[in-house]
Amino acid sequence: MTGRKGDIVTWLFGLCAFLIILVFAYRNTFQANVNRIAISINRSVQTNGLEQEPLRILHLSDLHMENISITAEQIVADWKDEPLDLIAITGDFLDRARNIPKALAFVKTLLALKPKYGAYAVFGNHDYVLPPDQLAILKEGLNRLGCRVLQNEAVTLDCNGNKLHLIGIDDFATRRSNLSKAFAGADDKGIRLVLTHDPNIVLHMGPYHYDYLLAGHFHGGQIHWPKPYHLWKMGKLPRMNMVKGLHFYHGRPFYISEGLGQTGINIRLRSRPEITLHTLRVQAHSNTNPAAAQAAKANLETAPALAID
Ligand SMILES: [Fe+2]
Repeated sequence: MTGRKGDIVTWLFGLCAFLIILVFAYRNTFQANVNRIAISINRSVQTNGLEQEPLRILHLSDLHMENISITAEQIVADWKDEPLDLIAITGDFLDRARNIPKALAFVKTLLALKPKYGAYAVFGNHDYVLPPDQLAILKEGLNRLGCRVLQNEAVTLDCNGNKLHLIGIDDFATRRSNLSKAFAGADDKGIRLVLTHDPNIVLHMGPYHYDYLLAGHFHGGQIHWPKPYHLWKMGKLPRMNMVKGLHFYHGRPFYISEGLGQTGINIRLRSRPEITLHTLRVQAHSNTNPAAAQAAKANLETAPALAID
């Protein structure tokens, strides 16, 4: 084989390999991983000594309507027989205003799962690419459907007589987080569940205690091969090897979803779309017994026990 022919063969071989990888990477976007995470929190809450029924939270993140291969209909079909207490969406619905109807239709379909205590969401850095008037349309549309958007605010839910503070911290990457505002409505007598987009916020939460935090943002690297070096510019957590899954910082558990959609180009390598069910069980202390209450108070900041299914 002459040198020129050899070069052409090498080039064609490289092109074929590249196309095969591209097809494989595109197919990955249709194959969601379902992760089931069980968390047990050892905490002082007013439950009269009763162990609370576990909360079942379906967590989706980074829908990215521009590049999503998983449909809401698929999710409803897969989850319709599972009782859900909450649906939590941790930001990045879209980049472009023209996809607002698509995002709203997606969430509307999802709400057929009828989570007992409703659906809640926060916005991510991509949502904030929208002009303010378009973002307001998205927010109003989500709220109208019954998916409440939390922007540095907390809502308190009564879950079987137990208090759950659902705290939405606005996006850290775009400098919108306001912790004092977000936690203003959350006393320490209830469970504190945080929803936020960029998990890097956990490095800055100091006295703002939470029991569990759900986030997304990193897409599990999306193109995670050989390593997600491109994430290193996305804050300190990736440099601490925390890009997906369950982690702890100062004893507090937080979870980073790989997200459902893709950004840039609709491919994933060594990463899959993710649907997560978090089962949150609280090992409550009785507040009726002074000694138990004292022990519970001392235990307020201890790390939770943890199990992963
Ligand atoms: Fe995203």
